Amino acid sequence: MAVAPLSLANVQGDILFGLPKQTQSFFFFQIDQVDAFRSNLSNLVPLITSAQQTQTNISEIRQFKIKNNIAVDAGDGEVVHPDVITVSGVNIAFSAKGLQKSKFSTKLTFMRIGILDDINDTLFNNGMKSDASNLGDSGMQQADGTFQPDWDDTFLQEIHGVTLVTGDSHDTVNDKLASVKDILSGTVTEISTLSGDVRPGDEAGHEHFGYKDGVSNPAVQDVEAINPGQATIDQGVALLGRGVDTATTRPSWALDGSFMAFRKLPQLVPEFDKFLLDTAKTQDAADLMGARFVGRWKSGAPIMNATTQDDPALGADATLNNDFKFVKGDQSACPFAAHIRKMNPRNDLSESAIQPHMILRRGIPFGPEVSDEERQANATAQERGLLFVCYQSVLSSGFSFLQQAWANKQNFPPGDSPTPGFDPIIGQTTSGDVRTMTGAFVNNTSQPLNLLAQWVNSKGGEYFFSPSIPTLQNVFATS
Ligand code: HEM
Repeated sequence: MAVAPLSLANVQGDILFGLPKQTQSFFFFQIDQVDAFRSNLSNLVPLITSAQQTQTNISEIRQFKIKNNIAVDAGDGEVVHPDVITVSGVNIAFSAKGLQKSKFSTKLTFMRIGILDDINDTLFNNGMKSDASNLGDSGMQQADGTFQPDWDDTFLQEIHGVTLVTGDSHDTVNDKLASVKDILSGTVTEISTLSGDVRPGDEAGHEHFGYKDGVSNPAVQDVEAINPGQATIDQGVALLGRGVDTATTRPSWALDGSFMAFRKLPQLVPEFDKFLLDTAKTQDAADLMGARFVGRWKSGAPIMNATTQDDPALGADATLNNDFKFVKGDQSACPFAAHIRKMNPRNDLSESAIQPHMILRRGIPFGPEVSDEERQANATAQERGLLFVCYQSVLSSGFSFLQQAWANKQNFPPGDSPTPGFDPIIGQTTSGDVRTMTGAFVNNTSQPLNLLAQWVNSKGGEYFFSPSIPTLQNVFATS
């Protein structure tokens, strides 16, 4: 049967545009009372923010900023400045255990997902913990052969679902979260609520190492305008049941849903900065080496087009900051292993080889700013990092693939000499061996650099399915 054209009213807003946010809470829960939960879900559905609503909210925020002479920074389109507009968003997603527990389809009864209703994503069905050692998370092999990752307790428990609540201020988010909890009250147990905040002042839109985030995301075909150099992906790379995804058998209720990978990724910021300074010797050289680790300067300017120093105007210009390609086999301007080259090897591989692996990133920083004491001690005392979120239609092509097959693979991009090494930002090994990369030193790009620490260490996460709004309403909820 032909699938009707995509309606933005049917898709949850975080998937296609990203819910606008200054602050965000993730409410992780277990479903205790299945029937009551499904019945109460019908009261939650009207609160769910669609992609259509999100698009309107983003456009209102931009209009307001323009009218009031507030800078609309490229790359921070998702950031609501607290003094700008009152806005909130609610989305919901379920783990495979949550879907099984909730018997969301009549065919599921009390069993595991049956053949007819198998959503057909093995990584999702098995959960992130089963994928942890493949992802390179640290942990211990148990006597029974299972792998126990070194994760926070939250993610070692059985999580059934997560509600994402975003807004312009803590008050807005807390009020909205209270309404969500009220609706679900008596039917779920809270496992944990994690909160993140856009960083203050000039750091807004930057992750904790200081680099502007959210600069490059692919445009979904026929959904949004494309900036120069921005990739366009088939709708089926993001959404189940559409475009290229129709090649995979999905239950009808999966249409217009997306898999959400959630990862809690603490970052060792003072340690990262000290390593750069110790290795590069001067602050300018350290800044350049940091930019070579990421592939962009802190402003977001790509080092391919700003090779020796940062160019904030370039970083802020969405019509220019993705308009570059890497030079295959050459790492003089940008190391093969640079984070953005590993994650989107523009021109190292053909566009058609990269596109199935593209993800829509929607993370937010968490934790306080680095304190003076931490700076002086060059040591992290308070946990901070990224609550990483990304959407894709196939986890083994998206998040899990990018982490394993590209970030953690020393010989990716393929055929390059010298061997690229690990992505210095997110590459990881379960063995804890020292990671190496080449290309860090601008004057001798063949010289290997031992990355003496791993500055991003996963504390866990889960794979979720973010259903379409009609599926939430008509299949998952009961009245
Ligand atoms: C704490 C962990 C991380 C940090 C600090 C970080 C930082 C960054 C920064 C600064 C950029 C460049 C700006 C931008 O294009 O938005 C970026 C881009 C990107 N990151 Fe990460 N990232 C992290 C984790 C991850 C993970 C876990 C993945 C996926 C496995 C990932 C995938 C990507 C992708 C796909 C891009 C865009 C590449 C492009 O299209 O040019 N990142 N990241």
